[in-house]
Amino acid sequence: MDIIERFIRNPELGKTEYVELLRASEDRQAAHRLAEEAVRLRKKYYGNAVYVRGLIEFTNYCRNDCFYCGIRRSSRGLERYRLTEEEILSCCEEGSRLGFQTYVLQGGEDPWYTDERLERIIRSIKEQYPDCAVTLSVGERSYESYRRLREAGADRYLLRHETASEEHYRRLHPAEMSLVHRKQCLYQLKDLGYQVGAGFMAGSPGQTYAELAEDLLFLRELKPQMAGIGPFIPHHSTPFRDEPAGSVELTLRLLSIVRILLPRVLLPATTALGTMDPMGREKGFAAGANVVMPNLSPAANRKQYELYDNKLCTGDEAAESLADLKKRVEAAGWRLSMERGDAAEELEEAQKA
Ligand code: 5AD
Repeated sequence: MDIIERFIRNPELGKTEYVELLRASEDRQAAHRLAEEAVRLRKKYYGNAVYVRGLIEFTNYCRNDCFYCGIRRSSRGLERYRLTEEEILSCCEEGSRLGFQTYVLQGGEDPWYTDERLERIIRSIKEQYPDCAVTLSVGERSYESYRRLREAGADRYLLRHETASEEHYRRLHPAEMSLVHRKQCLYQLKDLGYQVGAGFMAGSPGQTYAELAEDLLFLRELKPQMAGIGPFIPHHSTPFRDEPAGSVELTLRLLSIVRILLPRVLLPATTALGTMDPMGREKGFAAGANVVMPNLSPAANRKQYELYDNKLCTGDEAAESLADLKKRVEAAGWRLSMERGDAAEELEEAQKA
C-alpha cells in the first residue's frame, strides 16, 4: 500500500514517513485523494457547516519582532492603533446584529492591554452577549494571566506555534523568543480549559518537509481543537520582504493532512489563503477547512492591521458582506452556520453530560 493510503488508514506515522507523505502529496492525484478523505471526515463530524467567527483586530502594537510579521515592533511607516473598550463593544454590536456568535479578539502583544483591561472587555462582552463564545488571540502571557482571562469568561485561545522545529523557530524569530515557551503556553491554555488553536504558515522561509513533519507530530501531540494554517506572504517592511510566498497548493495539501490527522479539528480557510487566490477559501473548504473569520474591525483600522502585503480587507472577508459570503459558501456546496460551532469533541462531551 502506498504512503497516502497508509496515512489514511492510520495517520499515526513517524517523522520520516510524514516527510514521505508530504513528498507523495505533490502528485495531483494523491492530493485529490487526501482532499476526498478530508472532506469525508469533515462531513462526518460537522456535516456541511462552515462556521463563522467575527475577527476584531483590536491593537496593532506589538512588543515582538517576528521576522515575517508586518506589525512587528520595528516595522515603521505603519500607524499604530488601539481600540477602546467602547469601540470593541460596538464591533460586537455590529457582529451581533449580523448574527455572529463568536468574537475573536486578536492583537499584537500589546502590554497596554493589562489583565485588568482585558478582563473588563471580556466581562462586558459576555454580559451583553451571554450566549457568544469569546476567543482570544493575544500571544504569550503568564499562566496567571491566562487563568484570569479564562475566569473572566474567555472560551477559546488562538496561538499559532508557527513552527515546531527549534532550528526553524530561530530562523523566524529573534533570539529573545523561544519555541519551548510557546509550546508551554499552549499546554497551559489547554490545562486551563480553553479550546486551543495552534498552527503555522505554509511556505515560510527555510521551511522544508522535515519542518512540516515536526508540525504534524506536534499537532498530534497537542491535539488542539483548532488549527490555523495559511500561506506565508511577504511584507515589504520586514526582513523577509524578498522571500517567496508560500503556495496555495501546499496550504491545501496541509489542510487535508491536518483534517485527517485530527478529524474533529476546526480549520479556518484563512484570510491569507483568500489573499493569495480569489477562490482560495472555496478551495480551502474542498480541502477540509470548515471555518471562516470575516473581519469585524472598524473599516478605518483594517488597512493598519497589515500582517502581510495586500491583505484582503474589503469584499467577502469583511463582515458587512456576510450575504455575499453566504452566497459563495452555498454556491460551493456548503452551509454557512452562525452557530457557536464548538469543536465536535466539546459537543459530544456536552451531550453526554
Ligand atoms: N504571512 C502570513 N501569515 C502571517 N502571520 C504573520 N505574518 C504573516 C505573513 N507575513 C500569521 C502568523 C500569526 C497570525 C496572526 O498571522 O502565523 O500567528
